[in-house]
Amino acid sequence: MMKKWSTWAAAGLLLASSLGMAQTPYSEDSTYRGLGGKEGIDKIVASFLTLVQQDVRVKESFVDFDMEQLAGRLAEQLCEFSGGPCKYTGKYKDRDMESSHVDLKITNAQFNAVAEDLQLAMERHGVPNSVQNKLIAKLAPMQRAIVTK
Ligand code: HEM
Repeated sequence: MMKKWSTWAAAGLLLASSLGMAQTPYSEDSTYRGLGGKEGIDKIVASFLTLVQQDVRVKESFVDFDMEQLAGRLAEQLCEFSGGPCKYTGKYKDRDMESSHVDLKITNAQFNAVAEDLQLAMERHGVPNSVQNKLIAKLAPMQRAIVTK
């Protein structure tokens, strides 16, 4: 059964705040390895971006953006957060996810849709549930920065 992102968001927030590590990467690389390393992450990101561009709930938001560049940056971010040997080098190096998304006026429903697509992409690439949950716990606290509408 597909778990609702909001449930994960709540769990992630709780976990992040209880451990005092809202957006710091995992210090060991088991999540990174569970995602299949760099190669696995690249495949997951490619499937994920295909899914969002086909998803009527959110595809409008991605029109006019450079998806290749977004794929590269997102892969870096997921690699870094999951404990892999990467650094996010994107436009918002300070990890200010709010400034990178504020103009998009993203709603909770859109955030949940994107999260579902990411989960589906991980599912399709055979990522174990325990690993999916660890990545999601790391991303969930970003909801507060990304949802502005
Ligand atoms: C956990 C959720 C999310 C994460 C981790 C995430 C991550 C990212 C990252 C790392 C970038 C930076 C790209 C760069 O440095 O160039 C980015 C940009 C972007 N995101 Fe998200 N995002 C999330 C949710 C969303 C949602 C819900 C939407 C729309 C419905 C969205 C739409 C976009 C778009 C269109 C860009 C391109 C902005 C630009 O190039 O200026 N994101 N996202």
